[in-house]
Amino acid sequence: MRGLFITFEGGECSGKTTLIKNLAKYYEDLGQKVLITREPGGTPIAEQIRNIILDNNNVAMTAKCEALLYAASRIQHVEEKILPALDEGTIILCDRFLDSSLAYQGYARKLGFSLVLEANKFVLDYLPDLTLLIDIKPDVALKRMSQRPDKVNRLDAESINFHQMVYEGYQKLVDLYPNRIKKLDGMLNKEDLLMQSVKLIDSYREKLCN
Ligand code: TMP
Repeated sequence: MRGLFITFEGGECSGKTTLIKNLAKYYEDLGQKVLITREPGGTPIAEQIRNIILDNNNVAMTAKCEALLYAASRIQHVEEKILPALDEGTIILCDRFLDSSLAYQGYARKLGFSLVLEANKFVLDYLPDLTLLIDIKPDVALKRMSQRPDKVNRLDAESINFHQMVYEGYQKLVDLYPNRIKKLDGMLNKEDLLMQSVKLIDSYREKLCN
């Protein structure tokens, strides 16, 4: 049986990583095969591209170059890792995917959704089954970033206006793809966020069976 391709979206520090770990444990405890992966990255080649994109020294990188690098890392990730795992019946939990490019490069960097979709032509046949967007206002999320010990990358370091644009971009995507993208309440505690996600995933799977 084909697996399930679920992606997680949201601004910086929206809580995606913790939620993905909790979901993986939840489904593994039920005996299901789960794969955690992320973008940009997920395979050795795509991780090398990630390092170029997020390098704080690459201040001269243009928005179009950035969009194409994300697209290149994505198709490598899809072909090398996601499609084989789907064929093996795995539940794939992927931290970011095409919607990040639409919100960040398409909306916040102002390239437009259609140009970013064009740049991602190779992956348009492989859209996620379900996308869970953690909805949390950037000012609240960025407060969390100031308490985070890990290094701030080139995109984290953008202005609050940029992160506000990313937030707006995501809201537009929910309107454009209401069947695929479902919002999660980013103000919930970890346990409730997990249960809200499980409900959405399980009801999606039930619909597939009927
Ligand atoms: P993260 O792994 O810490 O979320 O960092 C990845 C950064 O890259 C984050 O700021 C979001 C950004 N990004 C884009 O701008 N476009 C994309 O297509 C993807 C996948 C990520």
